[in-house]
Amino acid sequence: MSASNIIYVLLLIVLANIINNGVDAKHKVFHELQSKSKSLESVSPLHRTSYHFQPPRNWINDPNGPMLYKGIYHLFYQYNPKGAVWGNIVWAHSVSKDLINWEALEPAIYPSKWFDINGTWSGSATNVPGKGPVILYTGITENHTQIQNYAIPQDLSDPYLKKWIKPDDNPIVQPNHGENGSAFRDPTTAWFNKQDGYWRILVGSKKNHRGVAYMYKSRNFKNWVKTKRPLHSKAKTGMWECPDFFPVSVTDKKNGLDTSYNGPNIKHVLKVSLDLTRYEYYTLGKYNTKKDRYIPDGKTPDGWDGLRFDYGNFYASKTFFDDMKKRRILWGWANESDTVEDDVLKGWAGVQLIPRTVLLDTSGKQLVFWPIEEIESLRGKNVQMNNQKMEMGQSFEVKGITPAQVDVDVTFNVGSLEKAETFDTSYTTKPLELCNKKGSNVSGGIGPFGLITLATSDLEEYTPVFFRVFKDVLTKKPKVLMCSDAKPSTLETDTGSDQKQMMYKPSFGGFVDVDLADGKISLRSLIDHSVVESFGAKGKTVITSRVYPTKAVGEKAHLFVFNNGSQPVTVESLNAWNMQKPQKMNQGAH
Ligand code: FRU
Repeated sequence: MSASNIIYVLLLIVLANIINNGVDAKHKVFHELQSKSKSLESVSPLHRTSYHFQPPRNWINDPNGPMLYKGIYHLFYQYNPKGAVWGNIVWAHSVSKDLINWEALEPAIYPSKWFDINGTWSGSATNVPGKGPVILYTGITENHTQIQNYAIPQDLSDPYLKKWIKPDDNPIVQPNHGENGSAFRDPTTAWFNKQDGYWRILVGSKKNHRGVAYMYKSRNFKNWVKTKRPLHSKAKTGMWECPDFFPVSVTDKKNGLDTSYNGPNIKHVLKVSLDLTRYEYYTLGKYNTKKDRYIPDGKTPDGWDGLRFDYGNFYASKTFFDDMKKRRILWGWANESDTVEDDVLKGWAGVQLIPRTVLLDTSGKQLVFWPIEEIESLRGKNVQMNNQKMEMGQSFEVKGITPAQVDVDVTFNVGSLEKAETFDTSYTTKPLELCNKKGSNVSGGIGPFGLITLATSDLEEYTPVFFRVFKDVLTKKPKVLMCSDAKPSTLETDTGSDQKQMMYKPSFGGFVDVDLADGKISLRSLIDHSVVESFGAKGKTVITSRVYPTKAVGEKAHLFVFNNGSQPVTVESLNAWNMQKPQKMNQGAH
């Protein structure tokens, strides 16, 4: 690069930093919009969810510090109290007894001291025996450096933990050993190592283009030192946001494990959120506590093509261990896919997805996810369909429910695999491209078949969620593709303005690791007005789409099962339930 080019690039970097307040994160800053809050009456009910976690208005992003304390579930989340775009971020705080009904409390943490005056960003909670819950979060300082702080409850006898204190001896971790102070954030829940008596945490970062999870250790939860090496890093993955690190059992297929658990028959999971693309990936591996090293087991890629918790609109997720029900629960944020203008008009943006339990799959090669059982308490009227054979081009409507707000669980049987199309191995790492190329209307051998959600009766608008089965000539095994396609989801009204940013309507996709030995594959979708969360093969592959139908809304939305493959497919059983609205959803969020 010539000297003038270098100067030019440096100038660009400086400029970008000035524009973005020196803060290196992909959230767009719309200065003029970030304090344009709507009155509650003018918040648009269209596309708002009914049983997903949302405050009554304004912007939300990452779930923070989920935990259970004295029988109460706590969820904190990144929240703009003043508008429907990212900005003015505080830790909003909600509490629940059942993970369904939520009550909003006052924000737990908000900028007020030199060590967080420019931002109170994401972090985690740890229940420290003898101390109670401790929150670790990222503060943005006076000079826009990212540092890690702690906060503690004012009154440990209050199960709602209404008031939080940020002691003056903050911060606990600063980027003064060569770390990048504008990419250094999102501390994890801490885990305790009985052998050496140290707590450990991770902080997400990057070194040039290498994604890094720095590790810090402490005996007293106050004085933290950096370990000799990061827990893990990966070239060319960019900034690692919101790392999460936890054990899963190889033998126990029902229960989750405490974050500090260590023993035989476990694997560890390291998940990172990639700021560059705004999607996440995870690896399964071995955590060697003596060497303080995490080694992915190498069975799946560590990097761009890694396994994902969810192959759709799902980011900045975080798990916690629910000691009461012995399960690990995953929270994830779904951003809007409409435009910023739409969000401002609506008066709100972002939802937290239905919490999911996390277990290691029986294959040991991946995780499986399932909506928490509590969600079933919202099920109302039920309709069923059994042994319904679908020839090529056939579809059946699921009638008698209100499909804009349902839980639908269906088991298909594809019969023999003879007609499956040959799998082109060049698509092995490209499920997304395959979904784009082979949509729900492109007929095949086995499939596409699945659900058509949020549809008008004439399919002017619809969001199909479907499978397509290929045959891998090398392994002789089926290769199953799952897609959730937002492209036909909405008729976009063209305002004629060139400036108008277009709605994001991707087709998301992932492969499903099943052998189809008995011909069966299941699909469950939680449909909630603008959210379609779909669980393929009992949660082996999960895809969330955000969609904004203009006609297939409320009572006018329809639900179908369909088959567009030449091999007939049978709906062995289908159950669909109307979903009720929780009685309390965060009224009065501040
Ligand atoms: C992820 C993220 C985090 C950061 C927070 C700021 O969405 O960028 O890295 O702490 O959001 O709101």
